[in-house]
Amino acid sequence: MWKIGNIEIKGKTILAPMAGITTFAYREFMRSFGVALCYTEMISDSGLIFNNEKTYEYLPRPEEKRPTSVQLFGGETTKLLVAIEKIEKHTDNYDFLDLNLGCPVPKVTRNNGGSAWLKHPNELIAMVEKVVKRSTKPVTVKIRIGWDEKHINFKELLPKLEEAGVSLIAIHLRTTKQLYGGKARYDLAQNIQNLVSIPLVVSGDIYTLDDAIKALEITGAQAVMLARGQLGNPFLATQIETYFKTGERLKDPSLYQQLDYLWTLANMMVEEKGKHMGILVMRGIAHHFIKGFPFTKTYKVKLTKMSTLNDLELIIKEIKNQALLI
Ligand SMILES: Cc1cc2nc3c(=O)[nH]c(=O)nc-3n(C[C@H](O)[C@H](O)[C@H](O)COP(=O)(O)O)c2cc1C
Repeated sequence: MWKIGNIEIKGKTILAPMAGITTFAYREFMRSFGVALCYTEMISDSGLIFNNEKTYEYLPRPEEKRPTSVQLFGGETTKLLVAIEKIEKHTDNYDFLDLNLGCPVPKVTRNNGGSAWLKHPNELIAMVEKVVKRSTKPVTVKIRIGWDEKHINFKELLPKLEEAGVSLIAIHLRTTKQLYGGKARYDLAQNIQNLVSIPLVVSGDIYTLDDAIKALEITGAQAVMLARGQLGNPFLATQIETYFKTGERLKDPSLYQQLDYLWTLANMMVEEKGKHMGILVMRGIAHHFIKGFPFTKTYKVKLTKMSTLNDLELIIKEIKNQALLI
């Protein structure tokens, strides 16, 4: 067990913020597999300031379980401060306010948001100090290792961010220019936890239990963030949590278990988003649950085209029947 500020975090896995994926239903689904903390999708400060209804839907609901981090992005200090007031007026049902300092998407960095902050460390630290003062919740940040190969500056930033008052730093071990490609740079992250006394969390390429063990060993971080590695493989969280609690290595789930997980998530998503939107979100997620199993390639296309829960039920039946023939 470890703490962010005064709040105990009861595990080693954290559900990463993932725009378009880690909705309310997705977070609740992943909590049932044992993740110790969930982040919302990134939320635009402008959307909050302009009272955009859709933006407010990204914030935690009253029934959301805890602990939860609300992730905010924006490129101007004054707007971020106003957005924090908006969040606090809207809900108290979250534990941490996280600043997105790692998004590489040009639409965000062009407006000085996301990882563009990493190019201006002095402005970044001044902004963080103000945010820490304004927020009634502990403030955390999620960064990358730097803008590009020539400007890797995360090690200098870590103690400065700690001094500015943040309670946790999550580090995606890629540069902005890498986007999501290439390898996460664990080679640059030996014992980084020694650089600060606040907890660190590492993000990048955690696909297996052994990836998690290695990442924690190399960096000394308190937890790993699960992103693409948990997509279609929620049981990864259970495997990691179980190993660190008992030393036991749980087997990978069967195709049947995977299909059950998929069905559960789809129903939760439809309950959150409604029949139409829920299935649209699931179109992008569902096929991950069958990746790696033999003969499932043909069903990938079907899953990306389904329109209703009934379609999904039929596809799942087809896959199960096909599996019986093998
Ligand atoms: C589809 C997608 C959406 C993402 N959305 C966010 C986001 O909203 N905020 C954020 O800080 N990072 C976001 N990320 C980055 C992840 O949180 C994570 O740091 C990154 O994917 C590296 O981990 P991985 O190599 O295990 O996938 C996103 C990544 C993906 C693939």
